[in-house]
Amino acid sequence: MSDTVTQPTPAMREAMATAVVGDDGFGEDPTVNALELRFAQLVGKEAALFVPSGVMANQIAIRILTRPGDVIVAGRNNHVVSFEMGAAARNSSVQFTLVDDTNGPMDVAAVIDAIDAVQSHHPHIAMVSAENTHMPSGGTPLDVHHLVALAGAIEGRPLHLDGARLFNAVVATGTSAAEFSAPATTVMCCLSKGLCAPVGSLLAGPRELMHEARIERKRLGGAMRQSGVLAAAGLVALDTMIERLAEDHARARRLADLFAATFPESLYDPSTCQTNIVAFNHPQARQIVDELDALGVHGGTIAPRRARFVTHADVTDDDLTYVEDRLAQFKPTVR
Ligand SMILES: Cc1ncc(COP(=O)(O)O)c(C=O)c1O
Repeated sequence: MSDTVTQPTPAMREAMATAVVGDDGFGEDPTVNALELRFAQLVGKEAALFVPSGVMANQIAIRILTRPGDVIVAGRNNHVVSFEMGAAARNSSVQFTLVDDTNGPMDVAAVIDAIDAVQSHHPHIAMVSAENTHMPSGGTPLDVHHLVALAGAIEGRPLHLDGARLFNAVVATGTSAAEFSAPATTVMCCLSKGLCAPVGSLLAGPRELMHEARIERKRLGGAMRQSGVLAAAGLVALDTMIERLAEDHARARRLADLFAATFPESLYDPSTCQTNIVAFNHPQARQIVDELDALGVHGGTIAPRRARFVTHADVTDDDLTYVEDRLAQFKPTVR
């Protein structure tokens, strides 16, 4: 289904039950403060902000880095573009210039062209947004050299990194979270996906910008009170759940091989599966997803004719054997 379905671990539930809390509206929740500090240190930024969701982290970044009428350059399939219900337009009155990101990274030359179009009477490009891992291409981790090149090409404009699955990229590549985040002005990460915390994301960046982010969080209704109960689980996630993502990646690769063998007509190359997401094109993708769902194999579609299956901490080797058995006899019904 998705790595958002993960259950909090027993250690998280224990930490939540015993968390020391205060009113974060006054900056007085010690557990939230500890989580924000820990994340800021991990990504090498001055400050961080705990927010209820990944969408809110992205939306706050856009609010603090743009003005109404501005343009954001982003990958066509990025979460901020395609999966946030038009939130950037609704919340910040901005629009996107879209660049191809079929395989994950955007073509830097295309980004430069988009910026250069300002000379031809196009609107102001305020920022660039990139996604790591890049979910729609199948959880592709970006190469840090690509991010450095991107940041260098955008003439001082801010780069926002949607790192909803940043630590999957870290584990898959060996590049640290701080190295990945260095070229970016702001970086966000979700605790509630593969890291298994029940709720919450973090946004990090320069102290002054994070001060503004705190105000925007309030405006969006995302300021919380004794949220240390949630932050406690987030600390357990950052302390204990990162390295184990490698298990999800290995299982996803096994799943990728199974899907590639079952649907050769999809031309899916399983070696492109580097983290925890298997995504492939198939003319009958929606039907396949529905029919497998009825067999107890839960996936989804992320675009017409594009299926997605995700591994996470609650998917075991036995589950994969179950999938293998179902796929061995599976043929989509002819309609
Ligand atoms: C790449 C990416 N960014 C942002 C988000 C938003 O996270 P949330 O669901 O916590 O709002 C997601 C969620 O799936 C995502 O995949």
